[in-house]
Formats: sequence, C-alpha cells, structure tokens
Amino acid sequence: MSFQINPLSTALGAEVVGLDLAEPLDEETFARVHQAHLDHQVLVFRDQHLTPAQHIVFSRRFGDLSGHVYDQFLLPGYPEILKVSNKKTADGDFAGLASAGRRWHSDLSYAETPSLGSLLYALEIPPEGGDTLFNNMYRAYEALPAATKSKIDDLKAEFLIGSARKYYTENERPPLTEAQLASVPPVEHPVVRTHPETKRKALYVNPAHTVRILGLDEAEADALLTELTEHSVEPQFVYRHKWRLHDLVFWDNRCCMHIAEPPPPDSNRHMHRTTVVGDTPY
Ligand code: SIN
Repeated sequence: MSFQINPLSTALGAEVVGLDLAEPLDEETFARVHQAHLDHQVLVFRDQHLTPAQHIVFSRRFGDLSGHVYDQFLLPGYPEILKVSNKKTADGDFAGLASAGRRWHSDLSYAETPSLGSLLYALEIPPEGGDTLFNNMYRAYEALPAATKSKIDDLKAEFLIGSARKYYTENERPPLTEAQLASVPPVEHPVVRTHPETKRKALYVNPAHTVRILGLDEAEADALLTELTEHSVEPQFVYRHKWRLHDLVFWDNRCCMHIAEPPPPDSNRHMHRTTVVGDTPY
C-alpha cells in the first residue's frame, strides 16, 4: 500500500497520510508502520473511519490489549476500549474518563506490566483546545549531564496510580473503589529503562504515577523527580498535537510521556482509547 510518513516536529511525532486502517494491513505495510512507530514514537493516522471492532483489530497487531482500572468507562460490549470523554450522559454523568491524562505520565506505568503504547481515536473534538502534548524520553535522557546519568542509571522508583493521591488534588480524578485500588498495588520500575525493541535508554519516571525513589529520602526523591520532569518537558523534547477529527494517534509509552490539556468549557471532546500491553521494564 502506498502512503506517506511526514515528521511533525523536530522532537518526535509523524503523521501517516493515505492509509486506511479499517482495511487489514499486509505484512510489508505493517512492518513499515511498526518501524515508523519505533522511529517517531508518536504516529498520527489522519482521516480514519473506524468502528470499535476495527480499532481493536488494528491495535491488536501490536500485542494484547488491556482493560482499565476505571472499568466504569469501558465501552459496553468492547472491554478493550476506554472512553475518554467530557460529554455528559442523560443522567448528567461524564460519558467517559473526563480528566484522563491531566499530568505528564506514561500509561499504565503503575502496573507490573506497563503499556507498550496507546491508540487514541478522536470521535468528537472541541473547536479549539484539548491538545495532547508528547515528549521524547530518549532525548531527555541523552541530554542529561553525565553526572546525573550515573546517579540515576541504577535507581528504582515506586509507582502507584495517581501517585497515591500524593500530588493529585481532590476532584482531579474520580475516586477509585476499594476493589479498583486493590487491583493496582504499588510496583517498582527502573528510573531509566531500556526500550525492548530499539535498545535505547529512556527516562521512565513521571509526575502522575511515580511515588518515590528507592534509597532516597522523600525530600531528595521529590527534588530529583521535579528536576527530571522539568528537564524532560523542555520545549525541544515536546510535540504538541492539535487534534483533527478522526485522527488516530498511536504513542509509545516506553519512551514518551503525554499530558492532555482540558478542552474549553461547554465543548465536547470524545475519544476511544485502546491500550497495548508491553513488557516488564528493565
Ligand atoms: C490519556 O492520558 O490517555 C488521555 C490523553 C488525551 O485525552 O489526550
């Protein structure tokens, strides 16, 4: 199949134009898409018209799909799809997880086996705003001073969904039930991980789900986490995605963080997300 891959920024990200993901991809096309994803970390597939089943079929080419701890927001009949939406239902409730991604994070980094990547499909977008920003955690790591690299290379951190409410303000996310919280106990991952496919090193800690750094006291760990976050979201490492209707954006959670800006009041932003299961970070 013939299609174009156009870089979107000097930091990361490329758009894929001329590919219809509703159709099955032949092996050669899939291999090109897979390589582009490894090269650019974020792929934006323009003008897609996908049913939930087609979204799932394409996502599954990259691995098994996970559900989500916020299981009340899974699409009925499609437990592989999380609704990310600020639309209101007839009862006045949000139709999906309205506040998803309000802090820089990597999806499911609080899980024993975090996500390889996520595929977010825009079904309704606001006239402006509601952008998603992505950063390049390879470049952020590579640009660190040698002394910082050697300080953090062998460190491990503890991760817990929403940083155990340590940094989250009330109302920022719906409270988890006891059963939901019990399904995501704290886990440990390296501060710097090696991407299992490219073998490049990337920073892996994030302000949404990293609670502490093992072996450091709380003040030291917080200062280091703040320093690493501020460094890794400097403009030269960031791509800002301004959504177009029917974009499907596929990012690599192993080497990027992302953050979603809230849409303007009284505007609808309605998306479907699948989440591909990855490897245990090392
Ligand atoms: C997410 O964190 O997966 C949501 C991102 C977004 O809504 O742009």
